[in-house]
Amino acid sequence: MDATAGFDRMWSELAPVGRSAASGGYRRFAWTAADAELREWFAAEAGRRGLDLTLDRAGNQWAWWGDPTAGPAVVIGSHLDSVPDGGAFDGPLGVVSALAAVDVLIEQGHSPKQPVAVVNFGDEEGARFGIACAGSRLLTGALGVDRARALTDGDGTSMAEAMGRAGFDPAGLAADPETLDRIGCFVELHVEQGRGLAELDQPIAIGSAIWPHGRWRIGLTGEANHAGTTRLADRNDPMLACAALVLAARAAAERYDSVATVGKLSVVPNGVNAIPSEVTAWLDARGPVPARVRQLVAELAAAAEDAGGSLVEESWTEETPFDAGLMDRLRRLLPDAPVLATGAGHDAGILANAGIPTAMLFVRNPTGVSHSPAEHAELADCHEGVRALSTVIAELTA
Ligand code: GLV
Ligand code: MN
Ligand code: MN
Repeated sequence: MDATAGFDRMWSELAPVGRSAASGGYRRFAWTAADAELREWFAAEAGRRGLDLTLDRAGNQWAWWGDPTAGPAVVIGSHLDSVPDGGAFDGPLGVVSALAAVDVLIEQGHSPKQPVAVVNFGDEEGARFGIACAGSRLLTGALGVDRARALTDGDGTSMAEAMGRAGFDPAGLAADPETLDRIGCFVELHVEQGRGLAELDQPIAIGSAIWPHGRWRIGLTGEANHAGTTRLADRNDPMLACAALVLAARAAAERYDSVATVGKLSVVPNGVNAIPSEVTAWLDARGPVPARVRQLVAELAAAAEDAGGSLVEESWTEETPFDAGLMDRLRRLLPDAPVLATGAGHDAGILANAGIPTAMLFVRNPTGVSHSPAEHAELADCHEGVRALSTVIAELTA
C-alpha cells in the first residue's frame, strides 16, 4: 500500500464523520453514534492490514502488528474523539499517521523485532463526561471505575449508560494492567496546537513536556426570579459572581504566568428572561509551574466560597516531562526537529505518569489554532509526519 496515498484515503474517509454542517467542526463525543462509526472505521483499517484488533478493559482499541505477548510493544496512535466543534486534526492525525507509518514499514519490508500496536484511545477530550483522557486514565487506574461509570453528560446520561447503549458492557470496565504491561514505549504524533513550528519554519517537532493542567467545577447558587419585575436590590443572581470569577481567573492567570479559561457554563433555568437559580462554570487552568497554577486555583476557590459557592477539582495532571532516553533517540533520528513543550493535555502524559517511556512528535499547524474548525496542517507536513514516525518505529523495532 502506498503510504502517502493511504494517508490521503484515510483522511478523506474520516472527513465527514461527526462533522457539523453548521460550524464545519467536529462533534465526535465518547460513546455516541459518531464514536461508534470511528471505532468501526478503525477496526476495518486494522483488518485491511491484517492487524489483530483488541479492545482493552477500559474501552480503548488496539491494532497489533505482531504477537501482543511477544515482548514490550512499540505503541503509536492517539484518539479519534473531539471537543465540541473541534478541528479535524487533534487526535485523528495521530491515528491516521500511525496506520500510514505501519504501511511505510510494510512497504519497506521491515520486520519488527517487537510487536507494534496502533492505539485509538477513547474519550481523550472529555467533552461529554468532563474528564479528559478518560480512556487512558481508566487503563492505568488513574481514573477509578466507579467514579467513571457515574459521570454524567449534559443530558444526565451516565457514562455507564452511554457505554451500554454503545455495546460496551460497563460492568466489565476496569483498569487493565495486562494491556499496560505490554506497552514498551508510546510515541504519540499530534498536530501542534500553537505557532511554534510555523515561527521556526519547520514541519516537525519533538515534544519535551506537558504543562501541569487541570479542570475544576465552580458551583454558584441564587434565586430564580423574573428578569423584568425583580428590583436590582432584591436579586440573588449567581451570574454576577460567575462573571466576577471569570475576570478574577484571567487576572490571576496574568499574575501567575499561567493560562485560565472558563469555556463551559451551565445555567438553570437558562431562560433569557429569568434570573438564574444556579450557575455551574468549568475552569481549565494550566501553566509551566505547578505551584503557580495551584495558587491561581486556590485564589479562585476562596473567591467562590466568599460568593457562597464552591470549587471542586475534577482532574489534575502533574507536569509531565517525556522520557529523556527516548527523546535523545528521536533527536538523533530527526536532527532538524526543534524540541517544544506544550500546554495541551494528551494520553501520552497519562502513560508517562504511569511510568511508561513516552515521547511526542508535533506536526506544524500554520494557523496555530486548535479546538476549533480553523485547526490546520498542510498535507505535505502530514506526510512528513508519517515519514518521521516510520523512521522512529523502524529504529525502535530494529
Ligand atoms: C486536550 O486537548 C486538552 O489539552 O484539554
Ligand atoms: Mn484536544
Ligand atoms: Mn489531542
